[in-house]
Amino acid sequence: MKVGIPKESHPGERRVAGTPDTVRKLIEYGFEVHVERGAGELASYPDPAYADAGATLVDGAEIWTGSDLILKVRAPKDLEIAAIKEGTHLISFVRPGQNEELVAKLAAKKLTAIAMDCVPRITRAQKMDALSSMANAAGYRAVIEAAQHYGGFFTGQITAAGRVPPTKVLVIGAGVAGLAAIGAARGLGAIVRAFDVREAVRDQVKSLGAEFLEVEIEESGEGGGGYAKVMSAEYIAAEMELFYEQAQEVDIVITTALIPGRPAPKLWETRAVEVMKPGSVVVDLAAEAGGNCELCVPGEIIDHNGVKILGLTDLPSRMANVTSQLYGTNLCHLLDDMGRAENYRIDLEDEVVRGAIVLHEGEKLWPPPKKEAPPPAEEKAEPAVEEKPAPAKVAEVTPPATPEKKGLGRGAFIGIGLALLWLGLRFGYDGTMTPPMEFLQHLTVFVLACFVGWQVIWSVSAALHTPLMAVTNAISGIIIVGGLLQAKGAWDSPSALLGGAAVLLATINIAGGFLVTQRMLKMFRK
Ligand code: NAI
Repeated sequence: MKVGIPKESHPGERRVAGTPDTVRKLIEYGFEVHVERGAGELASYPDPAYADAGATLVDGAEIWTGSDLILKVRAPKDLEIAAIKEGTHLISFVRPGQNEELVAKLAAKKLTAIAMDCVPRITRAQKMDALSSMANAAGYRAVIEAAQHYGGFFTGQITAAGRVPPTKVLVIGAGVAGLAAIGAARGLGAIVRAFDVREAVRDQVKSLGAEFLEVEIEESGEGGGGYAKVMSAEYIAAEMELFYEQAQEVDIVITTALIPGRPAPKLWETRAVEVMKPGSVVVDLAAEAGGNCELCVPGEIIDHNGVKILGLTDLPSRMANVTSQLYGTNLCHLLDDMGRAENYRIDLEDEVVRGAIVLHEGEKLWPPPKKEAPPPAEEKAEPAVEEKPAPAKVAEVTPPATPEKKGLGRGAFIGIGLALLWLGLRFGYDGTMTPPMEFLQHLTVFVLACFVGWQVIWSVSAALHTPLMAVTNAISGIIIVGGLLQAKGAWDSPSALLGGAAVLLATINIAGGFLVTQRMLKMFRK
């Protein structure tokens, strides 16, 4: 199967859908990869690097006519669509909600199109979530751009010539981009405050060392899937009041507030810009969707009474080398899941493919059918905020095993430990059967223990699995004590053997917990 990676034609776009690294991976997956000459030049990936990786370099039209699958960053333009052979598969950003005309043109060519911007934000699809990869880079870059336009130190300084206070940064919207911006601004030493309508992000904001601001009105902003819902007019008014107060204090504002499929909410009013200190900077990441700042002009940098308002819409492209690598890796993960070259298929039963597919052989399949609401227990097990990768995780090309799996493994260990403990109790120290009444009591305790254990493991959100580990270690401690008490009598009696096994398994559970924690700590050490 021939994969074609063309040069992006959108003015100012520096990214490319494959890097030498990801091309090597695609070849390993069995694809024959063709790259348009000069495709990676603006992202600092020269042609010879692609040739070394095993790609065939081709010129112009050939990439459109000779490929079975085209990988792109931005959706193709009219001339490119005209050149694509009928029935080709295309994977790129499409934004089908805003680009009906484009979808109709692609449909006319009987294309099969998968939109990377529609990959659902579910745990399994994190490795393919290109929106998050790009938003993560955009959040970081927003801080760098702000720093370039702001004339001060981020970190406070005490020098012989006097004291310089640290920069105060306000981040509005603590989604993927917002959290990345908080991390970057904190890293540079700024005092960071953040606001979001979703309570769920409060802890994430705090864990990055920022202050979480609040309004007095109580209203949940949870819209499901890690996204916000439209807030009431009173809430937005209270928010704007808060921002008006903050505007008089902060030096840099980074706005990222977004509700999918809606114009960006106007949150930073002209009056707020007008009370900011001259030299302050507003970076409006939502510029493409109309902007969160009333004065934002998409794609431009304007100056209003000495306050700079950056409406940049190409932040990921400004870090083309790394964002191309991340995007290319997202594509590799998707193609890996779709069966690589040998078993490549459009599986409409697959939640990720069904969520992201726009056209199948020219037939429009977008938007996907609405999913039935999951049962309440599952909703609790995977709260919306957990669907979204934290910035540090996004930056990882190969994310580590999901914490849920570790939770299940430990749950199973605890279950087996409890079962063995019960069997020990059931048979008594000397191997004789206990009388029915006593047996019934033990059975009740056992069933309740299993139920509580099950609920504890499954109902705790992934973010809390580390503290949960501490609790499971405590439970394992109880199992060890119980096991030791039961392991009396002759060494080969059922009760001694089962008690011994319970002690062994609980010990493995505790030691395993320490090893996993050690590994996690290592990941955070620089
Ligand atoms: P996200 O959905 O993860 O985050 C948006 C956050 O805004 C959510 O946490 C949501 O709760 C919050 N929010 C919604 N309404 C709010 C309100 N009224 N007040 C406060 N917070 C509110 O989205 P993500 O991926 O972080 O992207 C953020 C923005 O950055 C989007 O507008 C996206 O289009 C933009 N973006 C811009 C780029 C550029 O080059 N300028 C590049 C990549 C993304």
